[in-house]
Amino acid sequence: MYNQLLNKHTSLAVVGLGYVGLPIALELAKKISVIGFDINNDRVEKMKQGLDPCGELDNKSFIDTDILFTSSLEELSNASFYVIAVPTPIDDANMPDLKPLLSATKTVASVLKKGDYVVYESTVYPGCTEEDCVPLLEKISGLKYCNDFKVGYSPERINPGDKIHTLTNTVKIVSGCDEEALEIISKVYEIVVKAGVHRAANIKVAEAAKIIENTQRDVNIGLMNELSIICSRIGINTFDVLDAAGTKWNFLKFYPGLVGGHCIGVDPYYLVHKSHQLKYHPQIINSGRFVNDSMGGYIAKKLVKEMIKLGKNIMGAKVLVMGITFKEDVSDIRNSKVVDIIKELLDYGVSIDIIDPNANSDEVFNEYGLELIEKPNQIKYDTIVVAVSHREYYSLNEDYFKSLATQNAILADIKGIYRNSIKDMIYWSL
Ligand SMILES: NC(=O)c1ccc[n+]([C@@H]2O[C@H](COP(=O)([O-])OP(=O)(O)OC[C@H]3O[C@@H](n4cnc5c(N)ncnc54)[C@H](O)[C@@H]3O)[C@@H](O)[C@H]2O)c1
Repeated sequence: MYNQLLNKHTSLAVVGLGYVGLPIALELAKKISVIGFDINNDRVEKMKQGLDPCGELDNKSFIDTDILFTSSLEELSNASFYVIAVPTPIDDANMPDLKPLLSATKTVASVLKKGDYVVYESTVYPGCTEEDCVPLLEKISGLKYCNDFKVGYSPERINPGDKIHTLTNTVKIVSGCDEEALEIISKVYEIVVKAGVHRAANIKVAEAAKIIENTQRDVNIGLMNELSIICSRIGINTFDVLDAAGTKWNFLKFYPGLVGGHCIGVDPYYLVHKSHQLKYHPQIINSGRFVNDSMGGYIAKKLVKEMIKLGKNIMGAKVLVMGITFKEDVSDIRNSKVVDIIKELLDYGVSIDIIDPNANSDEVFNEYGLELIEKPNQIKYDTIVVAVSHREYYSLNEDYFKSLATQNAILADIKGIYRNSIKDMIYWSL
C-alpha cells in the first residue's frame, strides 16, 4: 500500500474537507495522489478554485498538489486508503452526535475493496472506531475487518489560527488494528509529518489520548475560571494572581476564559458518555464542563450588577461587544460562548452592538439571529466588552475606548489584555 501510494499507482482519499481534512489532504497531495471528498458541493467548488472555505489556508497551499476535489462516489472509489475527518459534534443534550461519522463510514464502506485502509481522524470516545464504525464497514462492504481491510485511528492536533504548531511540525499519534496496519499507516503519515509519529499501543489508546488532551485543557481552564469567580469576590485581579503563581517552576500556565468551539468544549462530553456506559460518573470532567459552560451567564450577570451599582438604567443600557468568534484570530463562530454573554444581556433588556474583524455577518445572523455592525456606532456605550483577544485589538488603548464610552463606562476585558494600561475607566476582567 505504501509503495503504491508513493508511486501513485493508487490514491488516498480524505473524506470531509474542513479545518482538519483540507490541510492534511493538501499536504499529502504534495507527495502522493489525493482525492478530496466532501458532501458539501459549495465547499468543493471553492476548493476547486484554490479557496479554503474555512479561510485558514491561502491560495499558495493549493499550488503543486495532485488533488481531485469531488463529491462523486464514483471518483471516491478510485482510492485505496481512506482518511475520515468529518465533524463529531454533540447534540442538544450534550450527547455524542455520530451522524456525520456514521454517514461518512457508510460512504466509504460502499466503495471499500479488499486490501483497502480506513483511518479515522475525527475526535471520538475510546471504542467508537471499533465498536460503532467497524461493524458498519463490515456489514456494508461484506468484507472482514483486519483480514480484508485494515483500520486505524490517528487524531488531529492542529489548532485553528495557530501558525506555529502545524501538521508537519507536530508529532502525530497513529494506531492500527494490527502490527502491519500500524506500520503502513505510520509510514503514510511520515510522508508529511516531519516531526514524526507516535505509534500508539492500539486504536482505543489513540482515541483516549486525543480526548484527554482536550479534557485536560477544559478542566484546567475550568479551575482558572473558578479561581476568577473567587478572585472577583475577594477584589483582586486573577491575572495578577496567575503572574505571581506562574513564577513557580511547576505551576501550569492556564488562564480563565470562554471555552467554545467544537473541540475543547465538546470532546469531554464524549469521554463522559463513554464513562457513563461503563457505569462510572465522572466528577471532575463534569465539573470542568459545568464551570466553563456557565461563564457566559456569569459574566453577563456580573456586568449587569456593576452597571446597576453605577446607577445605570439596565433597560436600554448600551453595550458594545468586540469579538464574537469562538476564539481569537479565527473566523469560526460555531459554539461561541460570547453568544451566551450577549443572549443573557439581551434578556435583561440591554441594547447590544457587536463587531468582529474576522466573523462573517451572514454566518452570525444565520447561526444566532444576531446582527454584526461594521464599526462602533457614534452612540456612547455604558459598557464595552472585549470578548475575544483578536490581534487587531491589542493595539487599542484607553483613549480609543473612552472615545466610545459614557463618562462612567465599564471596560470588560475578558482576557485581561489591557489590565496594566487602563487608568480612568472602570475596569473588569475575568
Ligand atoms: N477544527 C479543529 O481544530 C480540530 C482539531 C482537532 C480535531 N478536530 C476533529 O476533527 C474532526 C473534523 O473537524 P473539523 O473542524 O475539520 O470539521 P469541519 O466542520 O470544519 O469540516 C468537516 C467537513 O466534513 C464535511 N462532511 C460532513 N459530513 C460528511 C460526510 N458524511 N461525508 C463527507 N464529508 C462530510 C463537511 O461538509 C465539512 O466540509 C472533528 O471530529 C473534530 O473534533 C478538529
